[in-house]
Amino acid sequence: MNTVLVGGGRGFIGSHLCKVLRNKQFDVKIISRMPGPNHLTWHDIEQCGLPARTRAVVNVAGQNVLDPTKRWTAGFKQNVWNSRVRTTATLTKAIIDATDKPKSYVTISGVGVYKPNPLKEYVEDDVTEEFDFFSKLGIAWEKAAKLPENLSQCRQVTVRSGVVLGRDGGMIKQLYLPFFLGLGGPVGSGSQYLPWIHIEDLARLIVFAIEMEGVDGVLNGVAPQTITNKEFADTFAKVLWRPAVLPLPESVLNTIFNKERAKLLTQGQKVLPKRTQAVGFNYVYPDIKSACEELVL
Ligand SMILES: NC(=O)c1ccc[n+]([C@@H]2O[C@H](COP(=O)([O-])OP(=O)(O)OC[C@H]3O[C@@H](n4cnc5c(N)ncnc54)[C@H](OP(=O)(O)O)[C@@H]3O)[C@@H](O)[C@H]2O)c1
Repeated sequence: MNTVLVGGGRGFIGSHLCKVLRNKQFDVKIISRMPGPNHLTWHDIEQCGLPARTRAVVNVAGQNVLDPTKRWTAGFKQNVWNSRVRTTATLTKAIIDATDKPKSYVTISGVGVYKPNPLKEYVEDDVTEEFDFFSKLGIAWEKAAKLPENLSQCRQVTVRSGVVLGRDGGMIKQLYLPFFLGLGGPVGSGSQYLPWIHIEDLARLIVFAIEMEGVDGVLNGVAPQTITNKEFADTFAKVLWRPAVLPLPESVLNTIFNKERAKLLTQGQKVLPKRTQAVGFNYVYPDIKSACEELVL
């Protein structure tokens, strides 16, 4: 049986991904900090390497950045960093050391590597530069996933994901109640772009990257329809039959999260999935209306 090893497989993205993989008859093994059936720990991987017959490795681990219960301290930022960069580096090393190499290695990163600029449309080939904490993190995270060029037996794909929309996690889990109560609205002016993807499409894109021979490098994990934060708020409120008239002031978010972290909500980039579509990936939810309709089913 084909084994797929999934770092962070118990999380929001990871659990949807594992479901799609199991439906496709893959044998799924999860790497978690918690012991459990069919679970390995990060320590197991560091000590023993990849399990025998691992055909693909995925990493979607990462401490929740927008956890409002955690203050934006140096210690928390280190956790945010290590939970992405160190876990990815651990898997990269395990693949390099494995005698029986997996065929594919798929990791996630974020669109935070693109500098917010209302005049720019970003695609996968654009050069990325370090300009703040999240761009530095994204670049280090992607670098940690790089395999040596001579290791041609294993394809490596990085999915640069936008905000993931699903009922049971991420942004929608936080916003569902206020919007349901008619208290939702855009963040600040709402004019900032909101790169997004439906959870089902993201899970399918990761599986596509695992299976599709010849695909490697960066794929933007965003839907083809680019929208602003206000367009999202209006559409989500409309499918719930609620108004979206109460903007969430930037100053409130800056106070709750700290300005550096609140940028994830108050700023945004216009990102297109140019390569993702060119390599043949098809979306189930290409537009925000169909995605939002599914979220409230
Ligand atoms: N959700 C989004 O909108 C979005 C967008 C772009 C990128 N991403 C990235 O995708 C990844 C997964 O996101 P998600 O929404 O699925 O997050 P999530 O639901 O919070 O799950 C993340 C998983 O990471 C593991 N984890 C958490 N803290 C950790 C730590 N300190 N060290 C090692 N592992 C840790 C946890 O696994 P265990 O508890 O089992 O150890 C958890 O199940 C993250 O890296 C995130 O930055 C998410």
